[in-house]
Amino acid sequence: MEERYLELIKIINEADYNYHTLDNPTITDQEYDSYLRELYNIEEAHPELVRSDSPSQRAGGKVLDEFKKITHTIPMLSLSNVFNEEEIKLFDERIKKEGINPEYVAELKIDGLSVSLNYKNGKLVSAATRGDGVVGEDITNNVKTIKTVPLTINKQIDIEVRGEIYISKKRFEEINADRAKKGLDLFQNCRNLAAGSIRQLDSSIAASRKLDCWIYHLPNPEDYGIKTHYEALEFMKSLGFKVNPNNKLVKNIDELLEYIEDGAKKRDSLPYDIDGIVIKLNNLNEQKIMGFTAKYPRWATAYKFPAKEVLTKLEDIIFTVGRTGQITPNAVLSPVLVAGSTIRRATLHNEDYVKEKDLKIGDIVSIRKAGDVIPEVVERILERRDGSEKDFVMIKNCPICGSELIKKEGQVDYFCVNPECDARHIEGLIHFVDRHAMNITGLGERIIEDFYNMGFIRSITDIYHLKKHAEDLIELEGFGNKSVNNLLEAIEESKNNSLEKLIFALGIEQVGEKTARVLARKFETMDTFMNTSVEVLTNIQDIGEIIAKSIRNYFDKEENKKLIEELKALGVNMVYTGERIEEKDEFADKTFVITGTLTNYTRDEVKRMIENFGGKVSDSVSKKTSVVIVGDAPGSKYDKALKLGITIWNDEQINEVLDKYK
Ligand code: IVH
Repeated sequence: MEERYLELIKIINEADYNYHTLDNPTITDQEYDSYLRELYNIEEAHPELVRSDSPSQRAGGKVLDEFKKITHTIPMLSLSNVFNEEEIKLFDERIKKEGINPEYVAELKIDGLSVSLNYKNGKLVSAATRGDGVVGEDITNNVKTIKTVPLTINKQIDIEVRGEIYISKKRFEEINADRAKKGLDLFQNCRNLAAGSIRQLDSSIAASRKLDCWIYHLPNPEDYGIKTHYEALEFMKSLGFKVNPNNKLVKNIDELLEYIEDGAKKRDSLPYDIDGIVIKLNNLNEQKIMGFTAKYPRWATAYKFPAKEVLTKLEDIIFTVGRTGQITPNAVLSPVLVAGSTIRRATLHNEDYVKEKDLKIGDIVSIRKAGDVIPEVVERILERRDGSEKDFVMIKNCPICGSELIKKEGQVDYFCVNPECDARHIEGLIHFVDRHAMNITGLGERIIEDFYNMGFIRSITDIYHLKKHAEDLIELEGFGNKSVNNLLEAIEESKNNSLEKLIFALGIEQVGEKTARVLARKFETMDTFMNTSVEVLTNIQDIGEIIAKSIRNYFDKEENKKLIEELKALGVNMVYTGERIEEKDEFADKTFVITGTLTNYTRDEVKRMIENFGGKVSDSVSKKTSVVIVGDAPGSKYDKALKLGITIWNDEQINEVLDKYK
């Protein structure tokens, strides 16, 4: 009996391998089902026989309360990114600088989530997510449902391999179609679906999703006498793992660029999502020479494909009026899904921008998300024009108040200069309550607009008089006692904000959030600030003449002085209550740039602390940068820093210094 049982395990596991990993079925579906039935019968009659590598273990069914933690024996690192040919060449040059004549393995960068598989004596004993790279989650039950992950490998050895769990485009479509029918939320992309499936506590859900797994990394190649990464891939393939057939040994940068071009071409026709090409130094000794940073191997990098572009129709161009009166043309697009979200609008910035791009209303345009976030119109597709398109015409009058628009010499933007323009008032109010300004939750853009039109809030001070209208508000559709109370409370609460929030909220031209903070710290009270001269202001680091004049100009106006007095009388705080600057040597008078994701602190926290300790944070790397702080998945700023020889602090280093002063 036991012998037959073991034989069945072998037959079925082999059949799974041939079918799923090699895509080459060796037995019929009927035969397969009959073996499986026989195995289940034995297991039912003799539960004591059930083995961990039995195909029955793939069915799922175990429901966990939580995932256990697994500490990786070797940290699971991520990869640095490069975005263009120049950056690829830089990567290549850094390697050559070490006296290496590099040969690479180029691989498809599978868009899924990484996994570590542990085998003892040839049997799968555990599987873990990457987690924070040091500690991951135990997802063994879910991984066992993946037919291409062998439960037993061809050698009775201890081994760890790493790879990417993913889901095919076909399964993604099927699952979403099914969910749409059931009225469930849809998954945004293959990666989210794979990640959501692997984090199910009930492994039968993971099983139903039909995940898959490519193996691409052997953390301990020396243990098996392996000298190159390519050999490692071959070795893992021989053990029964699914290794991507597109992996290629490339002898030089030209072959590498060719591979990348090919990869980009076949991207859409592949049955799974890829988001780039991974480049790995082939020779393992050379990998050792290159070594690691705190987060990444220096011997590998990931080339990321440019953001995806899709085509849609430019239905219209409409104009909005900002709080400074600035007029912005906006593209109204036929709704279209780009990189996971539906795009309906995109800014077109100004008249020149529209003209440069030669956009006409009715054009078919390509859209992408710049930096994968902000929607952007890339270009019109000339061949798709049919003559029905209408020329873009810049407006001459404010779309809200009708007053004539003004364009100052040498500037690209038109302005509505009517101080009584409703649009300007509304935008000013929206800015005042914004999260970064007075942070009054419950007063969203729509509500401000409605309250403005209904006459409840016509000016900033009206916000603090809103309680007079409480009874009317409760009657409004969508409002009730509770939401009105919450709103009034949020308004009261905002009176306690520290001065920098109020300074920013006033919407003084040229005074952004950062400048507001500098000013509030420096002057501490509104009275000193509003009575300061242009000379005193320009003496402050980071405050130039344009900002200084704009501030002076603002407070020289009677209506603004009056506004401050009224706010004061209403109980709005007028002093700085935030943190004081305590200069620390590591930070004082230095300029920092942050790139990548940091682990212990958010980017905002790090920024705030650096500023509290007397440093500055800037967005771009230049010769003037003192230190670049490099977190997980840094951008090209990292390369630029290396190129310019700027001091680099990794995640651990910044944590260490910040922890010291916290
Ligand atoms: S190698 C030390 N190879 O991309 C080696 N990673 O952005 C680490 N990925 O964390 C990984 N395809 O999840 C490698 N062929 C491939 C890959 C790949 C996808 C993922 C992996 C990694 C991430 C980095």
